[in-house]
Amino acid sequence: MAKYLVTSALPYANGPIHFGHVAGAYLPADIYVRYLRMRGHQVLYVCGTDEHGVAITLRAEQEGIGYRESVDRWHAEIRRLFDRFGIEFDIFSGTARCPFHAQASQRFFRVLLEAGWIHDRVEEQWYSPAADRFLPDRYLQGICPECGHEQARGDECPACGAWIDARRLGDPISLIDGSKPILRETRHWYLDLPGLRAAGLDRWLQGADEERPHLTWKPNVEGHVQAMLADLQERPITRDLPWGVPVPADLPGAEGKVLYVWFDAPIGYISATMEWAAAQGEPEAWRDWWQDPQTHLVHFIGKDNIAFHLVVFPAMLLGQGDAWEGRRFVLPYNVPANEFYNLQGRKFSTSGGWYLDNEDFFSRYSADAARFHLALTAPETADSEFTWQGFQTTNNSLLADKLGNFASRVLKFAGRRFENRVPAATGDLAGHPALAEADERLGEVGDRLSRNELRKAAQALIAGCDALNRFFDSLAPWKLAKSEEQADRERCAGAIERCLAYLELLSRRLRPFCPAAAAELRTMLGRAAAQEGGLVWGEEGAGRPPAPLAAGAELGEARVLFRKIDDETIAEEIARLEARASS
Ligand code: MF3
Ligand code: ZN
Repeated sequence: MAKYLVTSALPYANGPIHFGHVAGAYLPADIYVRYLRMRGHQVLYVCGTDEHGVAITLRAEQEGIGYRESVDRWHAEIRRLFDRFGIEFDIFSGTARCPFHAQASQRFFRVLLEAGWIHDRVEEQWYSPAADRFLPDRYLQGICPECGHEQARGDECPACGAWIDARRLGDPISLIDGSKPILRETRHWYLDLPGLRAAGLDRWLQGADEERPHLTWKPNVEGHVQAMLADLQERPITRDLPWGVPVPADLPGAEGKVLYVWFDAPIGYISATMEWAAAQGEPEAWRDWWQDPQTHLVHFIGKDNIAFHLVVFPAMLLGQGDAWEGRRFVLPYNVPANEFYNLQGRKFSTSGGWYLDNEDFFSRYSADAARFHLALTAPETADSEFTWQGFQTTNNSLLADKLGNFASRVLKFAGRRFENRVPAATGDLAGHPALAEADERLGEVGDRLSRNELRKAAQALIAGCDALNRFFDSLAPWKLAKSEEQADRERCAGAIERCLAYLELLSRRLRPFCPAAAAELRTMLGRAAAQEGGLVWGEEGAGRPPAPLAAGAELGEARVLFRKIDDETIAEEIARLEARASS
């Protein structure tokens, strides 16, 4: 069994998150974690909110409230959405609330400084005479020097993703008041990425090290990394801001300076783990995750975060050397970055009204149906989108008609004909072509999940249901049951036993995607789903059908797993969305 430390990008605590975020970085991780746990691996899943930096200060200033008040509010709101979706972290902390965060970040900084990977120098920065303050990052807007996009920010371009040296921004203006800034000198600290690259980052990225012998990066990840390496420079990692982790106070020129949010945020994964360990009563246990060469560290992120997780954070981890009581940090094992997820042909936009109202959504539809649909349409290799029609099809034609229907017809039949008990197995149906197909497809679900191929995993599960419905139809147990022949009635019993055994297997294959429906299905199966030693994934798949169930085990009550959504409801949803967007 292996050890997996799984993270999802820390969302900025500066606004609500939406289905697009969930589909990109949270649901894929949650499904992966549930799957790995069923496989018996040791897993820790950490997350929290990203609570520093200009994304936060700007927002709080717009809201006219304090920074802490603002991040607390959004932290709670974001957490609520994760709860609704059934995303279960081992810890959900936040960089301004975690009691270990500032200290851990300062220690990272100090180690890098002492090892010579951080240099300080005095340089010109944009400054607003009107507001009497420096204007870091998103306080500035101007023309992207790389692609010409007119609304590039002071640190990165939302259009082309380039990292921007703010001094190269064309026609910069202050986003506080629209005024023109001037250049003024100030001291900042720079991370020597070219140096760290030569000292080991390159070797690791190319997979030459022992740590990552198994895989290549996803093509989208590889592309971003190559673009970034083509022009790798020292990056400023401090800012003039009143909110954030302070630069260690004993350093000359530290006053008024904080660490750049992209320096402290990924350390949030580590400090959250420290907090988790302390809550377990084993404060040192975080090291068993972050500093054990056996750990598989997997970061789930959106494509806009690739450079930070493949270059900057690994460089920071590498640069710690053995300064932490002689133990080195692990580097990421995989970074399954996703593309973007849109809504009915447009980008999600809270301010533009183009979003799904989370309260409304979950008061009407099930989280499991949403989870399954998002998995089926996940933006794995290209941008993809949520459409109401697509959601309806997934819910009605796949989940209700294929999966739910198979469960209910089998259970109802067993209820009527076999006194709601598991009939005796006959053992002669194992080679039936429809069952062989079901074995194949239900076996594939795990292979796909272990490679984070959610779409194909979800498709394989549905294909498994198709095969099982075909099996039921081809055996026509309702005819066999009425036959005068004893052999026919035995065959009927055998067929229903197989259907129940496959339903039990389906409940396990469904569980990472739809935990509530899977639990419901197991309740419906009653004693037929009682499994010794906890619920395990199992090795069923090609060539290996589920084992016979105990004859006579009592079944539960058949219930509706997925309720259908009618056309009118979908039309109303679309109308509501369009009305909100144009108001
Ligand atoms: N807050 C960032 C974003 O939403 C992601 C931070 S990920 C972390 O794009 F690694 F820095 F934590
Ligand atoms: Zn650009």
